[in-house]
Amino acid sequence: MTHQECINCKTTYGIDEIVYFCKKCGDILEIKFDFKELAQTLKESDWKKKPLSVWRYRDFMPIHEATKVVTLSEGGTGLHRSERLGAELGLKNLYVKNEGENPTGSFKDRGMTVGVTKAVELGARHVICASTGNTSASLAAYAARAGIKCTVLIPSGKIAYGKLSQAMIHGAKVLQVKGNFDQALEFVLKLAEKHKDIYLLNSINPFRIEGQKSLGYEICEQLNNEAPDRIIVPVGNAGNISAIWKGLTEFHKLGYIKTLPKMTGIQAAGSAPIVQAIKTNSDKIIPVENPETVATAIRIGAPVSWKKAINAIHESHGTAETVTDEEILDAQKILARIEGIFVEPASASSIAGLKKLVKSGVIGKDERVVCVTTGHGLKDPDTAVKMSEKPLEVDADISAIENALGLKERVAILAR
Ligand code: F0G
Repeated sequence: MTHQECINCKTTYGIDEIVYFCKKCGDILEIKFDFKELAQTLKESDWKKKPLSVWRYRDFMPIHEATKVVTLSEGGTGLHRSERLGAELGLKNLYVKNEGENPTGSFKDRGMTVGVTKAVELGARHVICASTGNTSASLAAYAARAGIKCTVLIPSGKIAYGKLSQAMIHGAKVLQVKGNFDQALEFVLKLAEKHKDIYLLNSINPFRIEGQKSLGYEICEQLNNEAPDRIIVPVGNAGNISAIWKGLTEFHKLGYIKTLPKMTGIQAAGSAPIVQAIKTNSDKIIPVENPETVATAIRIGAPVSWKKAINAIHESHGTAETVTDEEILDAQKILARIEGIFVEPASASSIAGLKKLVKSGVIGKDERVVCVTTGHGLKDPDTAVKMSEKPLEVDADISAIENALGLKERVAILAR
């Protein structure tokens, strides 16, 4: 009793129908469940005995019972109590949900395990996406795992090396389009429309959102079946914040949590159409034509799931904020240095946003806050190396090494 539904005009489509936009009004779709039936299934299921992971929630996923899942063991990532960072920012209850711990190093794996499973279920032999990097890395890995063909379109020049290397080594056909992400996405949408045998796995695909909603479930379960007061998420194409909110509202509806958190979306100052809409209280976005930021993962001017994201922020009484490149890189460094968590720049935007919103008094010091860090730092080693102290070159000699470390001076002082 599960179906796909247009978020605007509520037209319904079958669960096995391949459709990306509503045929009536052109808006995007979401998966809907019959909650009575779902509650009954869950009552009879042993889902709570399974380890924390995306597939712990198989009963919540729109995948047929007999289907064999395509998995690399995704989800079950750490929710790290961050006391030192919290103290630095003046917060008592801060947690970092580190999605870099997923198989290909980003939260995208949650969506791809479900999306590629659905692709195989539908008989697809060729999957495609446009990507700023992580989506392509993840899709390439899951397509390889499933033994199907994968094509990815990436923007020219601006993709982080770690991500590109992943898409390449997993054997995807990589096309670098001379343009930005938004243009690449337009092309894959056209391709999927024209060539029905190519299955599209950008986050416009609602099955990917279903996998990603597990991030919301996990946070609550890791907090002993309570929702935090606030969840802060980096926002690019806006699928993730929408997915987390969907998961939370489902858990709430099913009675697993009593309260809901304020969803807080962070965008880079140079590509922030959703923040702009929230701040001007508009129910539409104005796309940013030439988005720019060091956080290349979220360098997106026309987010496809903007409406879902704005709904999530409004419904949850949350907010949205921008952060500058400098604030992003500063947050990346602080997190790495005082919590031991290395994330890529886009991920650090949630920390940078937290800092800014605490300072401006929007976030209270007593709030229980979860910052989602979306991708591993090794995705973009160039940026990390550029902003860190360079290694010192020394002679292969103990006294030269002691000299460089200042140990000689210490011996001299002690001897005095
Ligand atoms: N953080 C990272 C590390 C990402 O790679 C992305 C999106 C986001 C945040 C934003 O998530 O799009 O769901 O709002 N990366 C996509 C990609 C666009 O192609 O890898 P979103």
